[in-house]
Amino acid sequence: MKIAILPGDGIGTEIVAEAVKVLNVLDLKFEMETADVGGVAYDKHGHPLPEATLKLAKEADAVLFGAVGDWKYDKLERQFRPEQAILGLRKNLGLFANFRPAICYEQLTHASSLKPELVSGLDILIIRELTGDIYFGQPRGRRTAPDGNFPGAEEAFDTMRYTRPEIERIAHVAFQAARKRGKKVTSVDKANVLETFQFWKDVVTEVGQQYPNVKLDHMYVDNAAMQLVKQPKSFDVMVTGNMFGDILSDAAAMLTGSIGMLPSASLNASNQGLYEPSHGSAPDIAGKGIANPLALPQPAPSRRPHRVRGEGRAVPGPADGGHLLRRHTESRHPRNGRRGRGCHYQEDHQGLASSGSSRPPRLQTSRGNTGSN
Ligand code: IPM
Ligand code: MG
Repeated sequence: MKIAILPGDGIGTEIVAEAVKVLNVLDLKFEMETADVGGVAYDKHGHPLPEATLKLAKEADAVLFGAVGDWKYDKLERQFRPEQAILGLRKNLGLFANFRPAICYEQLTHASSLKPELVSGLDILIIRELTGDIYFGQPRGRRTAPDGNFPGAEEAFDTMRYTRPEIERIAHVAFQAARKRGKKVTSVDKANVLETFQFWKDVVTEVGQQYPNVKLDHMYVDNAAMQLVKQPKSFDVMVTGNMFGDILSDAAAMLTGSIGMLPSASLNASNQGLYEPSHGSAPDIAGKGIANPLALPQPAPSRRPHRVRGEGRAVPGPADGGHLLRRHTESRHPRNGRRGRGCHYQEDHQGLASSGSSRPPRLQTSRGNTGSN
């Protein structure tokens, strides 16, 4: 199995280094090759997704991706910004199915911004369509407004669109995932306003008829955001478009106490996958050795493979990282002998200064403007 290692920017390099250590101790044969991506690739090669990096990613069975972005690239023309690397990889590899679990580990219940009883035991899976919608829809651009509220004024526009096959395939992914979990899919749309999402709702409903054992309900995106903070445990699998999925997955992540703990996997129709943390490059804490790497080792050695379709290669998928966290919290610190705390995972690995005190773990939550996922 060949894995493309793309550390990227900021804390991406630190956490990927830890994930590679995990891969190296597994009793599996991996061929690993590293390439530049994001801001560092722009600095070195003049493009955030150089040809050689894209070629490597296409040829690999899986991509281990760190994070991209830094404020210093904010003023670049859009095509050269680090974020274009991840968008380009998604598009070029056809990674349409994005799995974003939001799992609240027992050790982090206190760190959630919601009351413990609302989040304790939380286990949601957000399935986000990743290669369509307003993210990639054409036409887009700037022009002189031909009509609207201010004809003749300068305007910018994007296009929201979904084809039937795009909706069908992501709906199948969601129903198949739900069959292995709580057997419930909530399809999130904005059918009351948007034609694209009325179509989305209709197609998901049709696909749902093939899965009689899975309960399907539909929710408008504004209500879904509200329900996520009101009664998050009412969700099992949530399926939605690219844009709504981007927003809701960040909100769901924060329910778990730390986005720094959550993995994200993006698969294509041949089950080739890109595995990354749900968080971004966090330039504000980069290089300090305090980034929590747990979001990456989780998908890397997963024992719960995900398949986009019933056939093809089995690939690692988002896993329950609870065992890693539990092992750590149950172990004693190598130097002071005290019991570890959930988010001080890095202390054992990098020998960083340890407090061993009772202060709450430092949670990696901030990703800055550009490092946001
Ligand atoms: C994410 C990120 C990306 C997105 C950015 C970095 C392009 O926010 O993966 O959620 O918007 O999809
Ligand atoms: Mg995002």
